[in-house]
Amino acid sequence: MRIETLAVHAGQEPDPSTGAIMTPVYLSSTYAQQGPGGHKGYEYSRTDNPTRTALQKNLAALEGGTHGLAFASGCAAATTVMHLFRPADHIVVADDVYGGTFRLFDAVFRPMGLEFTFADLSAPDALERSLRPATRGVWLETPTNPMLKLIDIEAAAKVCRARSIALMVDNTFATPILQRPLDLGASLVVHSTTKYLNGHSDVVGGAVVTGDDETWTRLKYLQNAIGATPGPMDCFLVLRGIKTLHLRMARHCENAIAIARRLEGHRQVERVIFPGLESHPQHALARRQMRAPGGMISFVLRGGLARARACLETVRVFACAESLGGVESLIEHPAIMTHASVPPETRARLGISDGLIRLSVGVEDIEDLWEDLERGFAAAG
Ligand SMILES: Cc1ncc(COP(=O)(O)O)c(C=O)c1O
Repeated sequence: MRIETLAVHAGQEPDPSTGAIMTPVYLSSTYAQQGPGGHKGYEYSRTDNPTRTALQKNLAALEGGTHGLAFASGCAAATTVMHLFRPADHIVVADDVYGGTFRLFDAVFRPMGLEFTFADLSAPDALERSLRPATRGVWLETPTNPMLKLIDIEAAAKVCRARSIALMVDNTFATPILQRPLDLGASLVVHSTTKYLNGHSDVVGGAVVTGDDETWTRLKYLQNAIGATPGPMDCFLVLRGIKTLHLRMARHCENAIAIARRLEGHRQVERVIFPGLESHPQHALARRQMRAPGGMISFVLRGGLARARACLETVRVFACAESLGGVESLIEHPAIMTHASVPPETRARLGISDGLIRLSVGVEDIEDLWEDLERGFAAAG
């Protein structure tokens, strides 16, 4: 089946006892056993829950993997994945990952003995130059956040496969509708389902999908042992959100392309970063690796912080908020908001300047969105 059909149906059958089309929300924490050990696949809801099972199967199908695992947040998914490694293992990480991922690796796992090298993996041979004999994993996002750099997943997978290194791709920004890392050779895919997969800004959740049985067996053990699992209501909401993922992504991309083009021609805008523009340094890779360029745009407003602040305080259709990927448009200032945990010197190196603004373009009417941005630019002077 094709991905649009999988989004609606994968992992879900009408409920055998009632015929209910929508997967029930199994709010039970425990399950009756006929006798000790005589259960029907469910014993305790941290270990397994039927609503979570449906979501996990759906996620696995969408990413083209064999197994999915759902978590309480994207950070919970990343935390569980990091427990695949041992002290002194070395992991190469793209230098432009989500600030919370950077914080998790740098401030939580580094003191526990894991070693990390943060490198600009969009540069062709940066990955090979960052490898050490102890390298066991590579973690990347593409497009990156917030600079929207692209990393060639297939090329990275080739390097990793030759050395038995696990390639982990955070596919939150692209979603499996636009890019499927497992098809390109990644070992596992990570998501913050909080974003496009759920799509309605009413759940915090995470996921991992893999096609490798051994990795899944260990992660399944860790999912239960660590216990950072999502509640059944959250699983239901993400599953419901995914049913329209393909429709929403098409509209997010359509609106984002139109806004990026208009921003590029605006006198108050110094630079627009969007993989769908010919001016993006990796536009060719975007066309090869992604079905469409996504709904995220970063741009630099001339005049620095004061003007950026005036713009963010004036817009009304765009909500000034962290997060991304919901049906509603959001606007944020990475240096003050999402990437405040990244040290100032690192921000400066990455290009996260005081004039940088990030948009999560929603599915509203394009003219309403543009008029709103123009209001913000007028207030910025
Ligand atoms: C690309 C990316 N990965 C992971 C995360 C972390 O996910 P969560 O906030 O669900 O823990 C985020 C959150 O913004 C993100 O943008």
